[in-house]
Amino acid sequence: MINDSQILNNGYPMPSVGLGVYKIDDDGMEKVVTTALDAGYRAFDTAYFYGNEQALGRALSQSDIPREDLFITTKLWNDYQGYDKTFEYFQKSLEHLGTDYLDLFLIHWPCEADGLFIESYQAMEELYEQGKVKAIGVCNFKQHHLEKLMAHTNIKPMVNQIELHPYFNQQDVQEFCDNHDIKVTAWMPLMRNRGLLEDPVIVKLAEKYQKTPAQIVLRWHLAHNRIIIPKSKTPERIRENYDLFDFNLEITEVAEIDSLNKNARQGKDPDKVRIGDLK
Ligand SMILES: NC(=O)c1ccc[n+]([C@@H]2O[C@H](COP(=O)([O-])OP(=O)(O)OC[C@H]3O[C@@H](n4cnc5c(N)ncnc54)[C@H](OP(=O)(O)O)[C@@H]3O)[C@@H](O)[C@H]2O)c1
Repeated sequence: MINDSQILNNGYPMPSVGLGVYKIDDDGMEKVVTTALDAGYRAFDTAYFYGNEQALGRALSQSDIPREDLFITTKLWNDYQGYDKTFEYFQKSLEHLGTDYLDLFLIHWPCEADGLFIESYQAMEELYEQGKVKAIGVCNFKQHHLEKLMAHTNIKPMVNQIELHPYFNQQDVQEFCDNHDIKVTAWMPLMRNRGLLEDPVIVKLAEKYQKTPAQIVLRWHLAHNRIIIPKSKTPERIRENYDLFDFNLEITEVAEIDSLNKNARQGKDPDKVRIGDLK
């Protein structure tokens, strides 16, 4: 199965489907990564905060996939925002992952009230100029955060990774990012299987296409040219979440799923997250 890629605004390709590894612990990582690589995944999304960069790095190093064929994303944790700390914690993440470059480095949350995201991003710009990271970006940025960032920095973020699923489709942020050629990555793309997959519209389409509800939701994300990073520790689901490339939703069906939006955010509101809040 061939996974397609999206081209970021600096020309660097990023696989459309990656594996999110939040909550995958040291014991489970090797099996999860082996299953994912066998299924065709080449992109993996971790974070310093997840505490599993080492486990991911170890598991990837045991495979025979060349480093240049992998796409590794990690994130600068809130507590380490700031110009100097960004370099320091970038280096720690590289060491944890056992690699000498990152494909994508993201600011995890804006924490705007703490006033450090611009200088953190400026450090990331330098890492990018030095070739230590192939692409840089942000997570959980709303339009006003992106506007502020772009007014004070030189390199447009390549990615904005945000909570996004049919019940919270963030159409305003998506449109702003589309208009500025910032690629949206959906985190929690399956709404953590908390009710979305039983929605009658999703179930009806799953029956029509002989696919699972998760595959319908993931295909809907792809129809909007998003990158998706579903997480699963279950081998069957890991394979299922990658097996998306042999069908397409019709435009009216995409619109039907769009209309399920309830602005039902599941995670934190980025305007309310401060450094030190999340543990
Ligand atoms: N930037 C940020 O602030 C941020 C925040 C949160 C997450 N993320 C990233 O986004 C990734 C994905 O988000 P997420 O983990 O929050 O949520 P998610 O991918 O929407 O959902 C994961 C949950 O859904 C279940 N699941 C997976 N595939 C399924 C399927 N085919 N059918 C039914 N259930 C299925 C998983 O169960 P099992 O594992 O038990 O199979 C798990 O409980 C994370 O791993 C992380 O990399 C980023």
